[in-house]
Amino acid sequence: MKILATGRYLPEKILTNADISKFVDTTDEWIMTRTGIRERRMATESETSAFMGAEAAREALARASVSAEEIDLIIVATVTPDATFPSTACYIQNSIGATKAAAFDLQAACSGFLYGLVVANQFLLSGTYKNILLIGSEKLTSIVDWKDRSTCVLFGDGAGAVVLQACPGREKLLAFDLGANGRLHDILYLHNSNTAKANGKVLGEAGACMIMAGQEVFKQAVTEMARSARKTLEKAGLTVDDLRCVIPHQANVRIIDALTERLKVPAGKCFVNLQRYGNISAACIPVALYEAQIEYDLKPGDKILLIAFGGGLTWASAVIEL
Ligand code: ACO
Repeated sequence: MKILATGRYLPEKILTNADISKFVDTTDEWIMTRTGIRERRMATESETSAFMGAEAAREALARASVSAEEIDLIIVATVTPDATFPSTACYIQNSIGATKAAAFDLQAACSGFLYGLVVANQFLLSGTYKNILLIGSEKLTSIVDWKDRSTCVLFGDGAGAVVLQACPGREKLLAFDLGANGRLHDILYLHNSNTAKANGKVLGEAGACMIMAGQEVFKQAVTEMARSARKTLEKAGLTVDDLRCVIPHQANVRIIDALTERLKVPAGKCFVNLQRYGNISAACIPVALYEAQIEYDLKPGDKILLIAFGGGLTWASAVIEL
């Protein structure tokens, strides 16, 4: 597998910390010092996950010089699909005209993009498919409780996409690790209002909004991302010195600082863009990869460690070579 090109889409509308402080009891200072987030993008009604994902996909396809008809499979990682079904991948298939592609959504919360990368790689390694479009697209501003200051400040909207191509004998996914701990399903979740009702669950005043035990999630994120990253580096036979950069999940700068300290990653090697976008869940890694390519002037042969963590709990890491 090789990443041919990346694409991204970010809504134009910016919601700053000062904007949020007008409707919940918070300050720019609190949000900056506790999270590192300065602003986030907010999608309009028509900017759905499918819309944003299709835009990111179009850019990735154009940069890869691959046409939509050449795509064999579309995988979309999202926790904010346009509908329960059909999948967001099917909407995107229609929108971009990828008429020959199979399409499905994959859900592993914020780890979804890396789970998707590993799934896509299996199809490419086996020779089943040649070109795969992998997309992370999220409209998280639609699922946060705008009265809950401890969660609404953290999330934003956006999409990232990559075109993946089989390259037998020149494998660029050097190593990976996927993990989950369903025992901690209840520290970060969002119930669907229909199924919750049918299953006898009582939704709080906020209805079907994201619920999070922030401090517990914080601790788990640092522990599991560090453990997973170490495993992946070991499998690849690499050390941090061999990496051009590290792209961690963009949830909170304090989580990233704790992680890079544990992994002994020098400050300049870790890419951070959460100050601009907040946490965009499955879209974090592809958008960050797109921007890191520019910031670090990444070249073929550069090795990058990607690390993700999310609800489930789920986590994932991978070392790729460009
Ligand atoms: N503005 C002002 N005060 C606030 C805000 C806010 N936005 N949010 C919480 N507070 C208050 C709390 O009410 C509390 O007040 P109290 O002491 O009077 O009770 C105080 O600040 C401290 O609250 P804590 O929860 O202890 O704050 P903490 O330092 O843990 O930061 C945060 C909270 C930012 C949520 C942090 O725990 C965190 O980042 N956790 C991880 C979240 C995360 O990464 N989630 C996404 C995971 S990935 C996915 O799958 C979605």
